[in-house]
Amino acid sequence: MTAKPYYLTTPIYYVNDVPHIGHAYTTLACDVLARFKRLDGFDVRFLTGTDEHGQKVEKSAAQAGVDPQAFADKVSENFRRLADFMGFTHDDFIRTTEPRHKAACQEMWRRMLAAGDIYLGSYSGWYAVRDEAFYGEGELTKDADGVRRAPSGAEVEWVEEPSYFFRLSAWQDRLLAFYEANPVFILPSTRRNEVVSFVKGGLQDLSISRTTFNWGVPVPDDPEHIFYVWLDALTNYVSALGFPDEDGDFQRFWPCDLHMVGKDILRFHAVYWPAFLMAAGLEPPKRVFAHGWWTNEGQKISKSLGNVIDPFDLVDKYGLDQVRYFLLREVPFGNDGDFSHAAMVTRMNGELANDYGNLAQRVLSMIAKNCDGRVPGTDAPTADDRALLDQAAGLADKVRRALDGQAFHEALEAIWAVIRAANAYVDHQAPWKLKQEDPVRMAAVLYTLAETIRHLAIMTQAFMPGASARLLDQLAIAPEARDLAALAGALVPGTSLPKPEGVFPRHQAEDREGGRK
Ligand code: MSP
Repeated sequence: MTAKPYYLTTPIYYVNDVPHIGHAYTTLACDVLARFKRLDGFDVRFLTGTDEHGQKVEKSAAQAGVDPQAFADKVSENFRRLADFMGFTHDDFIRTTEPRHKAACQEMWRRMLAAGDIYLGSYSGWYAVRDEAFYGEGELTKDADGVRRAPSGAEVEWVEEPSYFFRLSAWQDRLLAFYEANPVFILPSTRRNEVVSFVKGGLQDLSISRTTFNWGVPVPDDPEHIFYVWLDALTNYVSALGFPDEDGDFQRFWPCDLHMVGKDILRFHAVYWPAFLMAAGLEPPKRVFAHGWWTNEGQKISKSLGNVIDPFDLVDKYGLDQVRYFLLREVPFGNDGDFSHAAMVTRMNGELANDYGNLAQRVLSMIAKNCDGRVPGTDAPTADDRALLDQAAGLADKVRRALDGQAFHEALEAIWAVIRAANAYVDHQAPWKLKQEDPVRMAAVLYTLAETIRHLAIMTQAFMPGASARLLDQLAIAPEARDLAALAGALVPGTSLPKPEGVFPRHQAEDREGGRK
């Protein structure tokens, strides 16, 4: 049987900035899904990359005094480094300055033009370089200094230039019909409602080319014009599959299963992108999920406030598995979240070191000490044993269901319900007391626990790959027996186990740091 394809993407990151926590977060969410889907037998294609054209990048390059290509090469490399550092398992990294991407953009253009959805006109209106977005007069506010600002807070400037337009106004009904027919195309549902009411409010044609600067993909047959950066950027999702060649990867992986994006860029993905695709005769993606934004100790993160969270520092301070866990556990995925040192340490020490780490450490050391370092023998399971094993065995379905709706927090909650049940079971069965009274029963209890830990470690691999792998090593699980299909197996009594060691260290600095946050 051939594996089912699963294609998921991160936004491509602007190369005007150093990578920060927001970038790491979006890609992390995708990485967990990609790892989980692979463990679940899917043929996964996981794409990330960098968005290198447009006015914003051109400006940053000019400020740095280098040409935009050299600038993009350097900053793009920082994003690759972050991805490696965070242990991300993307299969491809696309850059919009690559020839494969340019070819795809120009073909998209030709198709949209042939379909009658592009016409030449001229644009006059407001543009925010920071957002790379056009705004209507009615959307703007004036600040105390009389500066006009977009709803995002970005400064806007007046633009007047010849421009090609995409006939977005003609797509309103077709988009609404598409949302209606695909109720989970946009998640979370509150975001879906916002998009639907935006589209119901009427759509204006969209300016899709610029002439006042030239850092971009030239429009076919009219190179005075370059692509509006969002049409260029969105196309990365098909150029990475070899489009315009519609065989091979494109045929296998398109339509995309999931575009993961932040809430600020949902409109581009859930309104413009499906309209562009349909106009070009291509299928829209299956899902766009918009996640929330992080604040830092209650404050909006911004360069001017100097409170940008550097993911490299975070991981150095708390550990990679810990940061991965925290970011996906702290808030229901889709909501905004606040990063604080206190919250990080509470999760790290309470849930990882105490709940999960101690469970594993206690059980594995009892086995090392009392069972000659081998998987203990099992006896006829009692009702209590069966209850715990059944709960562990039911976990995969729960996690699968949660992750199919990108509900990472629910998946982790289901896993922690089993961890808590296992801790309650150890306390109740008190295997340390059974050592003298009933060694056979002690062995059965420890077996039940070790088998539960095997399930847990398999299930936490996608979230915390490092610690989970070390736990599976300590249970002597072969690399090929770590996927979800292997859950159906069981530990083999008598298997010799390596010496146990803790895998979730406590955060030590908090005492020294006193009340410091
Ligand atoms: N280049 C565009 C995307 C094009 S996709 C075809 C872009 N790039 S970005 O670098 O500005 O932002 C990328 C992602 O980072 C967005 O999904 C955005 O939501 C996310 N974040 C930026 N700051 C964030 C937080 N403070 N918190 C969480 N995510 C945030 O937009």
